[in-house]
Amino acid sequence: MKEIQINSTIQVYDSVQELPKNVQELMEKAVEARKKAYAPYSKFQVGAALMLANGEAVSGNNQENAAYPSGLCAERVAVFYAGAHYPGETVEMMAISATSLDKPVTTPVPPCGACRQAIAEYEIKQEKPIALYFMGEKGAVYKTNSLKDLLPLIFDGSML
Ligand code: THU
Repeated sequence: MKEIQINSTIQVYDSVQELPKNVQELMEKAVEARKKAYAPYSKFQVGAALMLANGEAVSGNNQENAAYPSGLCAERVAVFYAGAHYPGETVEMMAISATSLDKPVTTPVPPCGACRQAIAEYEIKQEKPIALYFMGEKGAVYKTNSLKDLLPLIFDGSML
């Protein structure tokens, strides 16, 4: 028996103000998207914004449904929109902001497991890492240089 160590690095920014200007602007787009989330059931609103290599930004928010599993997370709405409208365009980074109508969210909210798998598909396809920045509504921002930092032992198409 032997053990394999898997390391991830997360960079912690104390607040949005500490981020580079271009990332602050992308996070602002995530916040704007978050405010338009359709989340009447959970009251948990999430916005995600992507910066593409062509300079275009696209965003998405969570879309819930009375049949709960039919809804979709903000990150997948955004990444599928990019895949649908800008096929072949590299995604350079993603900013995520979440809040709740029930309580303040001040700790960073990472993408759920299903969204990590969906984002991984595009990162692997483009052969370039996607930097991820995520936060609550205020407070610290976590950054990973790659989706791989959030999803060790990724299942991908090479295994099929
Ligand atoms: N949600 C997201 O949009 N992204 C995540 O990564 C976690 C959860 C949404 C889904 C649902 O509408 C609400 O937050 C509560 O789970």
